[in-house]
Amino acid sequence: MTGKALDGYREVLDRLESESRRRSVRGDASEEMTDMSSNDYLGLGARGSEFDAELSALCPDAGFTSSASRLLAGRQSHYRMLESYLEEQYGRPALLFNSGYHANVGCASALAIPGTLFVADKAIHASVLDGFAVGKADFRRFTHNDMDALRRILDRHAAGYERVIVVVESIYSMDGDEAPLQELAAIKREYPGLLLYLDEAHGVGVRGSRGLGLAEELGVADDFDLIVGTFGKALASAGAFVIASPLLIDFLVNTARSFIFSTALPPVCAARSLLMMRKAAGMEEERRHLARLADMLRDGLHRMGLSTGNSTSQIVPLIVGDAARTLRISAKLREAGFDALAIRRPTVAAGTERIRFSLNSSLSESNISTLLAVLKTILES
Ligand SMILES: Cc1ncc(COP(=O)(O)O)c(C=O)c1O
Repeated sequence: MTGKALDGYREVLDRLESESRRRSVRGDASEEMTDMSSNDYLGLGARGSEFDAELSALCPDAGFTSSASRLLAGRQSHYRMLESYLEEQYGRPALLFNSGYHANVGCASALAIPGTLFVADKAIHASVLDGFAVGKADFRRFTHNDMDALRRILDRHAAGYERVIVVVESIYSMDGDEAPLQELAAIKREYPGLLLYLDEAHGVGVRGSRGLGLAEELGVADDFDLIVGTFGKALASAGAFVIASPLLIDFLVNTARSFIFSTALPPVCAARSLLMMRKAAGMEEERRHLARLADMLRDGLHRMGLSTGNSTSQIVPLIVGDAARTLRISAKLREAGFDALAIRRPTVAAGTERIRFSLNSSLSESNISTLLAVLKTILES
């Protein structure tokens, strides 16, 4: 029995291997490598211990463990400080979660009460889909960024539900394109009972005059009933937050299982997130520089006849369309000193395998020129 019990798992790994889809936890990137794979969009993470003294001064008593879930933890001050800052910035209450994954699983599953239909973009993050599964939610998906397809689903199905929750990301993590947030805000006004749920994981820190995200930049943040932001990407910390009305925050505190049944973030993470949010608010020049670098990379790739899909952000995919070739290009880039990862199925659809260039504001224009020259050589060889 024991001998055979594991065979099924081995077969899955063998199949993944044969399809060039087997993953492994990578090793450390060497110090000399140029980072084009992390989500450290403002380069704050790469600044190492530079902020340690400021962090100790801001929250000298922030410890490494809360020793209990948020509902039970005896010390709440660091979480409250961060939530108050977020509330000041967004103008609505905030609730911390342990990660963006926890936030999406918790919110999507909790909100799935009877009478609720979710309508999510086809490219929505796995954490939202997992939330639907946990909450046994009724959900439908529309073609990526296609507002006509969304309207068709709403016209056909919305009337059968008490509420419909449309879920989108502001900047899509694998395509680097943007959801039409202003059009979504207009659609909300057309359909009574419609709620909007926005995942700003890749927008927070990077967009908006205070780094609050794409919805801030476009002046539509208040139209989104739920905004999820994460601290582990541009904000170089860990954890996540949800912005919503007092009623919805209260509802989540009472029903979001990933909030209730998990030990709260280390207080020191909340303190670090607060410090990073304050820093990011003033990093307008870094945001502009990052946008210029992304334009430069896209222009260069297009001049070589390559596709970057509909990217308009700091995430620039080079669509290759074949898993094995994508892996080879990524390996050659690494040999040349560029850390840029191959993205394959199931993260992206078969035939759209890609190198995901994830830029950060500490890169220079000369890094981008060198990358383009190296890529040209790799693709011609
Ligand atoms: C769009 C999106 N939402 C949520 C998450 C999850 O966030 P976290 O890494 O904080 O769990 C990610 C990160 O992978 C993401 O890309």
